[in-house]
Amino acid sequence: MTVKWGVIGAGGIADRRTIPEMLRVADNAELVAVMDVNPEATQRVARKYGVPRAYGTEEGLLRDPEVQAVYIATPQNVHHRQVLLAARYGKHILCEKPMATSLQDAAEMIEACQKAGVKLGFDYMMRFNVHNQKVRELVQGGALGRPVMGRAQLTCWYPPIPGAWRQKREIAFGGALIDMGSHCLDLLEWIFGSRIVEVFAFHDSLVQSYDVEDTSTAILRFENGAHGIVDNYFNVPDAAAKNFLEVYGSLGTIFASGTIGQDPTGSVTTYLAPPGLAYSADQVRNVSADVRMEKYELEGVPMYGTMVKLFSEAVEKGGEPPVPAEVGYHNLEVIMALYESARGGRPVRIAY
Ligand SMILES: NC(=O)c1ccc[n+]([C@@H]2O[C@H](COP(=O)([O-])OP(=O)(O)OC[C@H]3O[C@@H](n4cnc5c(N)ncnc54)[C@H](O)[C@@H]3O)[C@@H](O)[C@H]2O)c1
Repeated sequence: MTVKWGVIGAGGIADRRTIPEMLRVADNAELVAVMDVNPEATQRVARKYGVPRAYGTEEGLLRDPEVQAVYIATPQNVHHRQVLLAARYGKHILCEKPMATSLQDAAEMIEACQKAGVKLGFDYMMRFNVHNQKVRELVQGGALGRPVMGRAQLTCWYPPIPGAWRQKREIAFGGALIDMGSHCLDLLEWIFGSRIVEVFAFHDSLVQSYDVEDTSTAILRFENGAHGIVDNYFNVPDAAAKNFLEVYGSLGTIFASGTIGQDPTGSVTTYLAPPGLAYSADQVRNVSADVRMEKYELEGVPMYGTMVKLFSEAVEKGGEPPVPAEVGYHNLEVIMALYESARGGRPVRIAY
Protein backbone atom coordinates (compact mmCIF):
# COMPACT_ATOMS: atom_id res chain seq x y z
CA MET A 1 0.00 0.00 0.00
CA THR A 2 1.22 3.50 -0.74
CA VAL A 3 0.41 6.79 0.93
CA LYS A 4 -1.02 9.33 -1.52
CA TRP A 5 0.63 12.76 -1.23
CA GLY A 6 -0.24 16.29 -2.26
CA VAL A 7 2.30 19.13 -2.28
CA ILE A 8 1.42 22.71 -1.34
CA GLY A 9 4.13 25.12 -2.47
CA ALA A 10 5.52 22.99 -5.27
CA GLY A 11 7.97 25.37 -6.93
CA GLY A 12 10.92 25.72 -4.51
CA ILE A 13 12.59 23.10 -2.31
CA ALA A 14 9.76 20.72 -3.24
CA ASP A 15 10.87 20.81 -6.87
CA ARG A 16 14.60 21.03 -6.11
CA ARG A 17 14.79 18.14 -3.65
CA THR A 18 11.71 16.66 -2.03
CA ILE A 19 9.63 15.59 -5.04
CA PRO A 20 12.47 14.02 -7.05
CA GLU A 21 13.82 12.23 -3.98
CA MET A 22 10.32 11.11 -2.97
CA LEU A 23 9.87 9.55 -6.40
CA ARG A 24 13.30 7.93 -6.21
CA VAL A 25 13.41 6.49 -2.71
CA ALA A 26 9.97 6.55 -1.07
CA ASP A 27 8.48 3.40 -2.58
CA ASN A 28 5.62 3.63 -0.07
CA ALA A 29 4.59 7.11 -1.31
CA GLU A 30 2.77 8.29 -4.41
CA LEU A 31 2.50 11.89 -5.56
CA VAL A 32 -1.05 12.51 -6.79
CA ALA A 33 -1.51 16.30 -6.62
CA VAL A 34 0.42 19.57 -6.56
CA MET A 35 -0.53 23.17 -5.87
CA ASP A 36 1.32 26.49 -5.91
CA VAL A 37 0.18 30.12 -5.83
CA ASN A 38 2.21 30.56 -8.96
CA PRO A 39 0.26 28.78 -11.76
CA GLU A 40 3.36 28.52 -13.93
CA ALA A 41 5.14 26.63 -11.11
CA THR A 42 2.15 24.33 -10.59
CA GLN A 43 2.00 23.40 -14.26
CA ARG A 44 5.77 23.08 -14.64
CA VAL A 45 6.10 20.74 -11.64
CA ALA A 46 3.05 18.66 -12.58
CA ARG A 47 4.43 18.16 -16.09
CA LYS A 48 7.98 17.51 -14.98
CA TYR A 49 7.02 14.68 -12.62
CA GLY A 50 3.85 13.42 -14.35
CA VAL A 51 1.63 14.35 -11.40
CA PRO A 52 -2.02 13.46 -12.20
CA ARG A 53 -3.67 16.56 -10.71
CA ALA A 54 -2.57 20.22 -10.51
CA TYR A 55 -4.64 22.60 -8.39
CA GLY A 56 -4.78 26.39 -8.29
CA THR A 57 -5.99 26.63 -4.70
CA GLU A 58 -5.19 24.99 -1.36
CA GLU A 59 -8.83 23.97 -0.88
CA GLY A 60 -8.90 22.36 -4.30
CA LEU A 61 -6.04 20.08 -3.34
CA LEU A 62 -7.28 19.49 0.20
CA ARG A 63 -10.76 18.50 -1.00
CA ASP A 64 -9.19 15.81 -3.20
CA PRO A 65 -10.34 12.63 -1.45
CA GLU A 66 -7.38 10.64 -2.70
CA VAL A 67 -4.84 12.89 -0.94
CA GLN A 68 -3.96 11.40 2.46
CA ALA A 69 -0.90 13.48 3.36
CA VAL A 70 0.39 16.89 2.35
CA TYR A 71 3.90 18.26 2.20
CA ILE A 72 3.84 22.01 2.86
CA ALA A 73 6.86 23.82 1.43
CA THR A 74 5.76 27.47 1.44
CA PRO A 75 7.35 30.45 3.23
CA GLN A 76 7.00 30.10 7.01
CA ASN A 77 4.52 32.93 7.50
CA VAL A 78 1.80 30.81 5.84
CA HIS A 79 2.60 27.46 7.53
CA HIS A 80 0.17 28.23 10.38
CA ARG A 81 -2.81 28.93 8.15
CA GLN A 82 -2.09 26.06 5.78
CA VAL A 83 -1.50 23.50 8.55
CA LEU A 84 -4.79 24.48 10.23
CA LEU A 85 -6.58 24.17 6.90
CA ALA A 86 -5.02 20.80 6.05
CA ALA A 87 -5.91 19.48 9.52
CA ARG A 88 -9.51 20.58 8.99
CA TYR A 89 -9.58 18.44 5.85
CA GLY A 90 -8.15 15.48 7.81
CA LYS A 91 -4.81 15.31 5.98
CA HIS A 92 -1.54 14.23 7.64
CA ILE A 93 1.07 16.97 7.36
CA LEU A 94 4.80 17.07 6.75
CA CYS A 95 5.72 20.76 6.91
CA GLU A 96 8.96 22.55 6.15
CA LYS A 97 10.98 24.17 8.89
CA PRO A 98 10.84 26.64 10.57
CA MET A 99 7.45 25.70 11.98
CA ALA A 100 5.94 29.21 12.06
CA THR A 101 6.74 32.82 12.83
CA SER A 102 5.30 32.88 16.37
CA LEU A 103 5.08 30.41 19.23
CA GLN A 104 1.37 31.05 19.57
CA ASP A 105 0.82 30.02 15.95
CA ALA A 106 2.99 26.95 16.52
CA ALA A 107 0.98 25.90 19.59
CA GLU A 108 -2.26 26.31 17.61
CA MET A 109 -0.88 24.10 14.84
CA ILE A 110 -0.16 21.29 17.31
CA GLU A 111 -3.56 21.65 18.94
CA ALA A 112 -5.39 21.64 15.59
CA CYS A 113 -3.62 18.47 14.43
CA GLN A 114 -4.23 16.71 17.74
CA LYS A 115 -7.93 17.60 17.60
CA ALA A 116 -8.21 16.44 13.99
CA GLY A 117 -6.29 13.23 14.74
CA VAL A 118 -3.73 13.86 12.00
CA LYS A 119 0.05 13.53 12.15
CA LEU A 120 2.21 16.66 12.05
CA GLY A 121 5.94 16.48 11.44
CA PHE A 122 8.73 18.82 10.35
CA ASP A 123 11.46 18.44 7.77
CA TYR A 124 14.65 18.48 9.88
CA MET A 125 16.02 16.06 7.35
CA MET A 126 19.70 16.65 8.21
CA ARG A 127 19.14 14.06 10.94
CA PHE A 128 19.28 11.54 8.08
CA ASN A 129 22.76 12.53 6.94
CA VAL A 130 24.67 9.35 7.76
CA HIS A 131 27.68 11.33 9.01
CA ASN A 132 25.55 13.31 11.42
CA GLN A 133 24.12 9.99 12.57
CA LYS A 134 27.68 8.70 13.12
CA VAL A 135 28.52 11.74 15.26
CA ARG A 136 25.39 11.18 17.33
CA GLU A 137 26.09 7.48 17.74
CA LEU A 138 29.65 8.22 18.96
CA VAL A 139 28.56 10.97 21.36
CA GLN A 140 25.62 9.06 22.79
CA GLY A 141 27.70 5.87 23.01
CA GLY A 142 30.11 7.71 25.31
CA ALA A 143 33.12 7.76 22.93
CA LEU A 144 33.62 11.45 23.63
CA GLY A 145 33.39 11.14 27.42
CA ARG A 146 31.58 14.06 28.96
CA PRO A 147 30.34 16.39 26.22
CA VAL A 148 31.84 19.84 26.67
CA MET A 149 30.99 21.85 23.55
CA GLY A 150 29.21 21.52 20.22
CA ARG A 151 29.44 23.89 17.28
CA ALA A 152 27.39 23.82 14.11
CA GLN A 153 28.00 26.29 11.30
CA LEU A 154 26.12 26.82 8.07
CA THR A 155 26.80 29.78 5.80
CA CYS A 156 26.21 30.89 2.23
CA TRP A 157 26.30 33.93 -0.05
CA TYR A 158 22.84 35.50 -0.23
CA PRO A 159 22.83 38.90 -1.92
CA PRO A 160 19.84 41.24 -2.00
CA ILE A 161 17.31 39.95 -4.55
CA PRO A 162 14.20 42.00 -5.40
CA GLY A 163 11.07 40.24 -4.10
CA ALA A 164 12.96 37.53 -2.16
CA TRP A 165 10.73 36.59 0.80
CA ARG A 166 13.67 35.39 2.93
CA GLN A 167 14.89 38.99 3.04
CA LYS A 168 11.61 40.39 4.37
CA ARG A 169 11.03 40.43 8.11
CA GLU A 170 7.22 40.27 7.78
CA ILE A 171 7.46 36.96 5.90
CA ALA A 172 10.61 35.24 7.13
CA PHE A 173 10.66 36.77 10.67
CA GLY A 174 14.48 36.76 10.62
CA GLY A 175 17.47 35.98 8.44
CA ALA A 176 20.46 33.65 8.71
CA LEU A 177 19.43 32.27 12.11
CA ILE A 178 15.84 31.23 11.41
CA ASP A 179 16.75 30.04 7.92
CA MET A 180 19.98 28.08 8.41
CA GLY A 181 20.48 28.13 12.18
CA SER A 182 17.24 26.21 12.73
CA HIS A 183 18.92 23.05 11.35
CA CYS A 184 22.14 23.66 13.32
CA LEU A 185 20.31 24.08 16.64
CA ASP A 186 18.28 20.95 16.03
CA LEU A 187 21.34 18.90 15.09
CA LEU A 188 23.27 19.83 18.23
CA GLU A 189 20.35 19.03 20.56
CA TRP A 190 19.76 15.75 18.75
CA ILE A 191 23.45 14.79 18.87
CA PHE A 192 23.73 15.60 22.59
CA GLY A 193 20.27 14.25 23.41
CA SER A 194 19.94 17.36 25.55
CA ARG A 195 17.88 20.52 25.24
CA ILE A 196 19.22 24.05 25.04
CA VAL A 197 18.37 25.92 28.26
CA GLU A 198 20.11 29.29 27.88
CA VAL A 199 21.14 31.38 24.89
CA PHE A 200 22.92 34.56 23.86
CA ALA A 201 23.14 35.96 20.33
CA PHE A 202 24.77 38.74 18.32
CA HIS A 203 22.88 39.70 15.17
CA ASP A 204 24.13 42.16 12.59
CA SER A 205 23.91 43.15 8.96
CA LEU A 206 27.56 43.39 7.99
CA VAL A 207 27.56 42.94 4.23
CA GLN A 208 24.11 42.61 2.69
CA SER A 209 21.44 45.29 2.75
CA TYR A 210 18.08 43.83 3.68
CA ASP A 211 15.98 44.03 6.77
CA VAL A 212 16.90 40.66 8.34
CA GLU A 213 20.28 39.73 9.87
CA ASP A 214 23.00 38.49 7.54
CA THR A 215 25.26 37.61 10.50
CA SER A 216 24.15 35.51 13.46
CA THR A 217 26.42 34.14 16.17
CA ALA A 218 24.72 32.24 18.98
CA ILE A 219 26.15 30.91 22.23
CA LEU A 220 24.25 28.13 23.96
CA ARG A 221 24.10 26.16 27.17
CA PHE A 222 22.59 22.67 27.12
CA GLU A 223 20.73 20.89 29.89
CA ASN A 224 23.66 18.43 30.18
CA GLY A 225 25.94 21.38 31.00
CA ALA A 226 27.72 21.46 27.64
CA HIS A 227 28.18 24.75 25.81
CA GLY A 228 27.44 25.38 22.16
CA ILE A 229 27.99 27.75 19.27
CA VAL A 230 25.76 28.06 16.22
CA ASP A 231 27.02 30.49 13.60
CA ASN A 232 25.22 31.40 10.42
CA TYR A 233 26.18 33.93 7.79
CA PHE A 234 24.51 35.03 4.58
CA ASN A 235 27.70 36.82 3.53
CA VAL A 236 30.41 34.21 2.95
CA PRO A 237 31.02 33.31 -0.72
CA ASP A 238 29.31 30.02 -1.60
CA ALA A 239 32.50 28.46 -2.89
CA ALA A 240 34.17 29.23 0.45
CA ALA A 241 31.21 28.41 2.67
CA LYS A 242 32.35 25.19 4.30
CA ASN A 243 29.90 24.03 6.91
CA PHE A 244 31.36 22.54 10.10
CA LEU A 245 30.17 20.40 12.94
CA GLU A 246 32.51 20.09 15.91
CA VAL A 247 31.91 18.27 19.16
CA TYR A 248 34.36 18.33 22.06
CA GLY A 249 34.38 16.14 25.15
CA SER A 250 36.58 14.90 27.96
CA LEU A 251 37.87 12.07 25.74
CA GLY A 252 38.37 13.83 22.46
CA THR A 253 37.13 15.77 19.49
CA ILE A 254 34.88 14.97 16.54
CA PHE A 255 35.00 17.10 13.41
CA ALA A 256 32.53 16.75 10.57
CA SER A 257 32.51 18.80 7.40
CA GLY A 258 30.09 18.95 4.54
CA THR A 259 27.35 17.32 6.62
CA ILE A 260 25.13 20.35 7.24
CA GLY A 261 23.36 21.04 3.98
CA GLN A 262 21.01 19.62 1.37
CA ASP A 263 23.45 17.08 -0.08
CA PRO A 264 23.83 13.77 1.76
CA THR A 265 27.61 14.17 1.75
CA GLY A 266 30.50 14.90 4.08
CA SER A 267 32.99 13.20 6.33
CA VAL A 268 33.67 12.73 10.02
CA THR A 269 37.08 12.65 11.70
CA THR A 270 37.46 11.57 15.31
CA TYR A 271 40.38 12.13 17.65
CA LEU A 272 39.65 9.96 20.65
CA ALA A 273 41.76 9.23 23.68
CA PRO A 274 41.37 6.47 26.23
CA PRO A 275 40.30 7.50 29.74
CA GLY A 276 43.17 8.44 32.05
CA LEU A 277 45.26 10.02 29.30
CA ALA A 278 48.65 11.34 30.42
CA TYR A 279 48.93 14.98 31.47
CA SER A 280 51.77 16.84 29.81
CA ALA A 281 53.43 19.25 32.22
CA ASP A 282 55.47 20.66 29.29
CA GLN A 283 52.28 21.51 27.49
CA VAL A 284 53.35 19.49 24.48
CA ARG A 285 50.22 18.78 22.53
CA ASN A 286 51.32 15.78 20.49
CA VAL A 287 52.76 13.67 23.32
CA SER A 288 50.28 10.92 23.13
CA ALA A 289 50.22 8.26 20.51
CA ASP A 290 47.16 7.13 22.42
CA VAL A 291 44.91 9.61 20.64
CA ARG A 292 43.39 7.62 17.84
CA MET A 293 42.38 9.35 14.64
CA GLU A 294 39.73 7.80 12.46
CA LYS A 295 38.03 9.13 9.34
CA TYR A 296 34.59 8.11 8.15
CA GLU A 297 33.41 8.77 4.60
CA LEU A 298 30.12 6.95 4.34
CA GLU A 299 27.62 6.31 1.57
CA GLY A 300 24.85 8.91 1.93
CA VAL A 301 21.11 8.47 1.54
CA PRO A 302 18.80 11.10 -0.03
CA MET A 303 17.55 12.88 3.11
CA TYR A 304 14.35 14.50 1.82
CA GLY A 305 13.20 11.24 0.27
CA THR A 306 14.00 9.35 3.46
CA MET A 307 11.88 11.81 5.45
CA VAL A 308 8.90 11.19 3.13
CA LYS A 309 9.44 7.45 3.28
CA LEU A 310 9.52 7.35 7.09
CA PHE A 311 6.58 9.74 7.37
CA SER A 312 4.59 7.53 4.99
CA GLU A 313 5.51 4.52 7.12
CA ALA A 314 4.12 6.31 10.19
CA VAL A 315 0.87 6.98 8.29
CA GLU A 316 0.61 3.38 7.07
CA LYS A 317 1.53 1.58 10.26
CA GLY A 318 0.65 4.18 12.89
CA GLY A 319 3.25 5.79 15.10
CA GLU A 320 5.12 9.07 15.40
CA PRO A 321 6.35 11.06 12.39
CA PRO A 322 10.15 10.81 12.02
CA VAL A 323 10.55 14.34 13.40
CA PRO A 324 7.39 15.12 15.35
CA ALA A 325 5.67 18.48 15.85
CA GLU A 326 7.12 18.98 19.33
CA VAL A 327 10.61 19.15 17.84
CA GLY A 328 9.49 21.91 15.49
CA TYR A 329 7.89 23.79 18.39
CA HIS A 330 10.95 23.48 20.59
CA ASN A 331 13.26 24.56 17.77
CA LEU A 332 11.16 27.70 17.33
CA GLU A 333 11.26 28.28 21.08
CA VAL A 334 15.08 28.36 20.97
CA ILE A 335 15.07 30.56 17.86
CA MET A 336 12.70 33.06 19.49
CA ALA A 337 14.87 33.15 22.64
CA LEU A 338 17.90 33.91 20.44
CA TYR A 339 16.13 36.79 18.68
CA GLU A 340 15.05 38.14 22.07
CA SER A 341 18.64 37.91 23.26
CA ALA A 342 20.01 39.71 20.20
CA ARG A 343 17.42 42.49 20.57
CA GLY A 344 17.96 42.92 24.29
CA GLY A 345 21.72 42.34 24.36
CA ARG A 346 21.49 39.83 27.21
CA PRO A 347 21.30 36.08 27.82
CA VAL A 348 17.84 34.52 27.78
CA ARG A 349 16.85 31.39 29.71
CA ILE A 350 14.29 29.03 28.21
CA ALA A 351 11.68 28.02 30.77
CA TYR A 352 10.47 24.42 30.65
N1 LIG B 1 14.54 21.47 5.07
C1 LIG B 1 15.31 22.17 4.25
O1 LIG B 1 16.46 21.83 4.03
C2 LIG B 1 14.76 23.38 3.53
C3 LIG B 1 15.41 23.87 2.41
C4 LIG B 1 14.87 24.97 1.74
C5 LIG B 1 13.73 25.57 2.21
N2 LIG B 1 13.13 25.09 3.35
C6 LIG B 1 11.91 25.72 3.87
O2 LIG B 1 10.88 25.49 2.92
C7 LIG B 1 10.01 26.63 2.85
C8 LIG B 1 9.98 27.13 1.41
O3 LIG B 1 11.28 27.56 1.04
P1 LIG B 1 11.76 27.52 -0.50
O4 LIG B 1 13.23 27.69 -0.49
O5 LIG B 1 11.19 26.36 -1.18
O6 LIG B 1 11.07 28.86 -1.05
P2 LIG B 1 10.79 29.22 -2.57
O7 LIG B 1 10.38 30.64 -2.57
O8 LIG B 1 11.92 28.77 -3.41
O9 LIG B 1 9.55 28.29 -2.97
C9 LIG B 1 8.32 28.41 -2.31
C10 LIG B 1 7.21 28.01 -3.25
O10 LIG B 1 5.95 28.19 -2.55
C11 LIG B 1 5.08 28.95 -3.38
N3 LIG B 1 4.17 29.67 -2.49
C12 LIG B 1 4.38 30.83 -1.81
N4 LIG B 1 3.31 31.14 -1.08
C13 LIG B 1 2.41 30.16 -1.27
C14 LIG B 1 1.11 29.92 -0.79
N5 LIG B 1 0.51 30.76 0.05
N6 LIG B 1 0.45 28.82 -1.21
C15 LIG B 1 1.02 27.95 -2.09
N7 LIG B 1 2.25 28.15 -2.59
C16 LIG B 1 2.94 29.23 -2.19
C17 LIG B 1 5.95 29.83 -4.24
O11 LIG B 1 5.30 30.25 -5.41
C18 LIG B 1 7.14 28.89 -4.50
O12 LIG B 1 6.91 28.09 -5.63
C19 LIG B 1 10.56 27.65 3.84
O13 LIG B 1 9.89 27.56 5.07
C20 LIG B 1 12.02 27.22 3.99
O14 LIG B 1 12.58 27.58 5.25
C21 LIG B 1 13.64 24.03 4.01
